[in-house]
Amino acid sequence: MKFNPIDSNSKLSGSSLDKQVKVLTVDDNTQNLEVLEGLLTARGYDVLKAYNGREALEKVEEFNPDIILLDVLMPVMDGYEVCKQLKSKKETRLIPVVLLTALDSGEDKIRGIEAGADDFITKPFQKLELLARVKSLVRVKALLDELENAQDVLFSLALALDFNDPYTHGHSQRVAEFSQRLAAFLGLPIDEQDRIKSAGILHDIGKIATDKGVLHKPGTLSSNELTHVKEHPVIGVKICEPLQFAKPLIPIIRGHHEKFNGTGYPDGLAGDEIPLGARIMSIVDVYDALTSVRPYRSDIPAEVAIEVMKAEAVKGYWDKEILGAFSEMLLTEGDFGNSNESAD
Ligand SMILES: [Fe+2]
Ligand SMILES: [Fe+2]
Repeated sequence: MKFNPIDSNSKLSGSSLDKQVKVLTVDDNTQNLEVLEGLLTARGYDVLKAYNGREALEKVEEFNPDIILLDVLMPVMDGYEVCKQLKSKKETRLIPVVLLTALDSGEDKIRGIEAGADDFITKPFQKLELLARVKSLVRVKALLDELENAQDVLFSLALALDFNDPYTHGHSQRVAEFSQRLAAFLGLPIDEQDRIKSAGILHDIGKIATDKGVLHKPGTLSSNELTHVKEHPVIGVKICEPLQFAKPLIPIIRGHHEKFNGTGYPDGLAGDEIPLGARIMSIVDVYDALTSVRPYRSDIPAEVAIEVMKAEAVKGYWDKEILGAFSEMLLTEGDFGNSNESAD
């Protein structure tokens, strides 16, 4: 069995430590690469090599390394550009990047920080310092991977619940995607779009505790049954609360059944008291419900659903500006005239 460099002093446990740590080293100077390879393989790391920026991006895609040691000045594509590209993609942005550079000016460091570099080492490097930094960044990466795994488990659970339900089939996935599109259409930053998308996947997870007989009941619910269904946002919050990654999603999960005029639940918030993400999601949630088959009725076309919701906005249910933007988005992005194929 191969030695794992982050195993010896780590308090971490689990599958993230069972694999050998992969280090991608990138430099146009073969001699530099050989020095790094010798140093790192002696400590048990699995070392991959790339000789220019473009090759580095290809190797990242192929091998998914745990850390990248990246020379700055290279032909074809320099280290700043490689770093910028890696940090702009969801799949690679969490891989730690250490810039190895002979340059030591403040200006170069600022360029590196702007490109998203996690650390810098000035060449010629001190071997022990380099090894210590690699070890520390790999440990952070392992923790982030564990967090991502926890997130994946919860998302998979939410989606599995949804796909197993003949009526809501795919509802959370669609709400997540429409909410993200609407957030983008409204010009919200990428982080906010991602947050809204994640909250969309989890918004109805509290329905895990809702009686399926009530959830699928055709016809009107009794007042007790209605009270029971209305518990799901708060139960969703209780499920997500202990998980660090889900904390920023909680106001959206809790608030997705609030109404603009204060007649929603669970808190009866009104207007701007309702978090923006929840105002977006409440609109998309109802739109998806209207355009999907439910136990008590068949689906209706997108254009009709929007007309129904515009009438409801007059009664004060929805944020009119957001509903207007949603309608415009569906029109300009070609959603009108398409039936909801996954709502069968
Ligand atoms: Fe809901
Ligand atoms: Fe929903």
